[in-house]
Amino acid sequence: MASPGQIIFWSIISIIIILAGAIALIIGFGISGRHSITVTTLTSAGNIGEDGILSCTFEPDIKLSDIVIQWLKEGVMGLVHEFREGKDDLSDQDEMFRGRTAVFADQVIGGNASLRLKNVQLTDAGTYKCYIITSKGKGNANLEYKTGAFSIPEVNVDYNASSESLRCEAPRWFPQPTVVWASQVDQGANFSEVSNTSFELNSENVTMKVVSILYNVTINNTYSCMIENNIAKATGDIKVTDSEIKRRSHLQLLNSKASLGVSSFFAISWILLPLSPYLMLK
Ligand SMILES: *[C@@H]1O[C@H](CO)[C@@H](O)[C@H](O)[C@H]1NC(C)=O
Ligand SMILES: *[C@@H]1O[C@H](CO)[C@@H](O)[C@H](O)[C@H]1NC(C)=O
Ligand SMILES: *[C@@H]1O[C@H](CO)[C@@H](O)[C@H](O)[C@H]1NC(C)=O
Ligand SMILES: *[C@@H]1O[C@H](CO)[C@@H](O)[C@H](O)[C@H]1NC(C)=O
Ligand SMILES: *[C@@H]1O[C@H](CO)[C@@H](O)[C@H](O)[C@H]1NC(C)=O
Ligand SMILES: *[C@@H]1O[C@H](CO)[C@@H](O)[C@H](O)[C@H]1NC(C)=O
Ligand SMILES: *[C@@H]1O[C@H](CO)[C@@H](O)[C@H](O)[C@H]1NC(C)=O
Repeated sequence: MASPGQIIFWSIISIIIILAGAIALIIGFGISGRHSITVTTLTSAGNIGEDGILSCTFEPDIKLSDIVIQWLKEGVMGLVHEFREGKDDLSDQDEMFRGRTAVFADQVIGGNASLRLKNVQLTDAGTYKCYIITSKGKGNANLEYKTGAFSIPEVNVDYNASSESLRCEAPRWFPQPTVVWASQVDQGANFSEVSNTSFELNSENVTMKVVSILYNVTINNTYSCMIENNIAKATGDIKVTDSEIKRRSHLQLLNSKASLGVSSFFAISWILLPLSPYLMLK
């Protein structure tokens, strides 16, 4: 029988051996860390129901057969996607991503490991890891993926209203955004007292239609309807003059890592409309 003294002695020896092993492992990783490659991800946002891209690039490698791309998601057991030896290997893919993922196979050789995600769901939000192995080494980078709904607003003269009004309408937003009106002439004015914003749940019970009416508007002024939530900001501008209506809109994704140049603008255009004979504004 071992005495208490012997038990303590052997326990201490065991702990020393375990610690030595751990230190050897850490040093081992430090050495293998020299064979690390640069992997870069870009923060991005997905629009529910549409297709999204999780952006990831790495130092290119001329040997495609040596490249392994693994996409993982925090809290998900299986893989999001795996690409090795020049093709997809979906044997360990999680059920949640079945049939919804793809890499741009012809671009992998150039260092593009971006993942295309079909039919983005609210539950796709989270932290993803883009893990790469090439003949030069391995590396990984995390990516914060946000999901929600956002759409470009359309601003029109509201011909039904009793006073001269503008109507700003956007079909899909989630989470519920804030809507703020601004005007070029009365800069800094607060229009909350002369506008009315309503949110109407769409049939899928997640996204909502946004409608905001601005009352008592004047001619020759440019008005902006700004819709914003934690993932996107959209603006619709309108200018009504005696002879025409000018409109412009844009949508911008908001990112925590804007310094990486992630913000993307799309649909920037001035739309010129002929004078409407029904124009209420005088
Ligand atoms: C990767 O390739 C796809 C498809 O051509 C492209 O849309 C995407 O922008 C590329 N990503 C990067 C980071 O170059
Ligand atoms: C204006 O009223 C007509 C008839 O009541 C209705 O059909 C139309 O949808 C309304 N337009 C707007 C922009 O509210
Ligand atoms: C505008 O006024 C409303 C109340 O009238 C206030 O709640 C809101 O914070 C104001 N907005 C700004 C941007 O000052
Ligand atoms: C619009 O202007 C009219 C006349 O000045 C005023 O009576 C009305 O209350 C205003 N409407 C709003 C929503 O402020
Ligand atoms: C705002 O619009 C809603 C629905 O369109 C209406 O019920 C409400 O009375 C309006 N409020 C104001 C202050 O005009
Ligand atoms: C949305 O909610 C309504 C009422 O709560 C329900 O009747 C309808 O089936 C739901 N629609 C979907 C697509 O879940
Ligand atoms: C609007 O601007 C045009 C051209 O600048 C001018 O001719 C017109 O009188 C203005 N209308 C009003 C109501 O200020």
